[in-house]
Amino acid sequence: MSGVRHVAEVGEWGGVPLAQVLPALRALEPSARACWLYDLDALTARAGRLVRAFAPLRPAIAYALKANGLPAIAQRLRSLGLHADAGSLGELELASAADFAREARTLSGNGRTPEEAAWVAQRGVDCVSVDAAGELDLLEAALSRTGAAPLCVALRINPGIATANHAHVATGHAAAKFGLSPAEALELWAARARWPHLALEGVHVHVGSQVLERAPLVAAARDALALADASAARGAPLSLVNLGGGFGHDSTRDGGDFALEAHAEELAALAVGRAVRWRLEPGRWLVAPVGVLLAEVLRIKIRRDADRERRFVVLAAGMNDLLRPALYGARHPIAPLAPRAGQPSRATVVGPVCESGDTFATDVHLPPLEVGDVVVIGDAGAYGAVMSSNYNGRGRLAELTAESGQLRRARRGETVEDLRGRDRDDVVPCLG
Ligand code: LLP
Repeated sequence: MSGVRHVAEVGEWGGVPLAQVLPALRALEPSARACWLYDLDALTARAGRLVRAFAPLRPAIAYALKANGLPAIAQRLRSLGLHADAGSLGELELASAADFAREARTLSGNGRTPEEAAWVAQRGVDCVSVDAAGELDLLEAALSRTGAAPLCVALRINPGIATANHAHVATGHAAAKFGLSPAEALELWAARARWPHLALEGVHVHVGSQVLERAPLVAAARDALALADASAARGAPLSLVNLGGGFGHDSTRDGGDFALEAHAEELAALAVGRAVRWRLEPGRWLVAPVGVLLAEVLRIKIRRDADRERRFVVLAAGMNDLLRPALYGARHPIAPLAPRAGQPSRATVVGPVCESGDTFATDVHLPPLEVGDVVVIGDAGAYGAVMSSNYNGRGRLAELTAESGQLRRARRGETVEDLRGRDRDDVVPCLG
């Protein structure tokens, strides 16, 4: 449990005293009472650990931009030799703006659009992961218009593997929307000549996110290799195996950091004797623990109910900022930045949004807190800011980086003017 307790004890993040962060931000944004903060020193260290662990496999490690698309983070990972995995047109543009070369960009996910197909045909990526047979025709049509070299395509398989994570982020079981059946993939690889502008040479598995146990990921890797063998036996050998992402991180649990090194060793053993290109797409593992959400306490409400007394700690951040507790029942470590003396007691930590689901933690033990104290919410670097919204008319928060004692504002908080910026009253002429 300690991720954040540790932060509170150390008192700094990327060499910057945490107590100074919100006051410093207020010099730029006078009404800021909460913000995201990422430790780029820690990010660099984590990326190094990942690259070292998997070195024997020599994979391309494509950071899943969806976990945190802040350019400062993407650029740092690029400078450390990682590739970028995009899931949309916006993320393709982000990868390009962060200077990932075409060989260092991939596209994955489902529901490909003609615009995305045109983008990859014109601007280029190393490989596209295809989730449905119809996407092959879409890509073929776009590629045939540009005359570019054949585009590498991996077929995403649904291997029917269950994971013990939340149902919303389990992607490898039969009821999940993702992937082709292995039988259909085998047919498509065998029929690859039908798409002359595509090189159907890869298999892709991604069975879920926030996966802490290794077994389903190993099973998925075995399935991918077995399929590659089956395809080769049918005359269509594969040269790329993409094992997706999914390595979990949850510092509220014992064993909450995925056993990366052991996993890498097991994959390296599976890889012996196979001349394929390997690809990984981790997101959360890299960025979750390097980010915190800092939020001021707006109110302490003690309510004496018939059954017991309840202490509600109302923060200046809400479910519109960090949606994970409300959406997945996710637990994030929470601790006061400067714990006050006194007995810890039960508290329910909530935000100011008008929903009961706007609750970060129920009945956790926290020291005494007062209005104006700052609370640190940990494991907030992945799927935090990227999933925030303007719900309840709330601007999204500023995102700051800290590195070697220097604090930078990497993205400003939204203002009331930003919230109105898209409002229009345009006449939309109907055709026909
Ligand atoms: N590759 C593909 C094709 C993906 O769909 C994802 C995540 C990743 C890689 C990266 O997975 P990671 O290593 O980060 O687990 N919003 C949820 C997580 C959704 C993950 C979506 N896809 C959450 O907050 O837990």
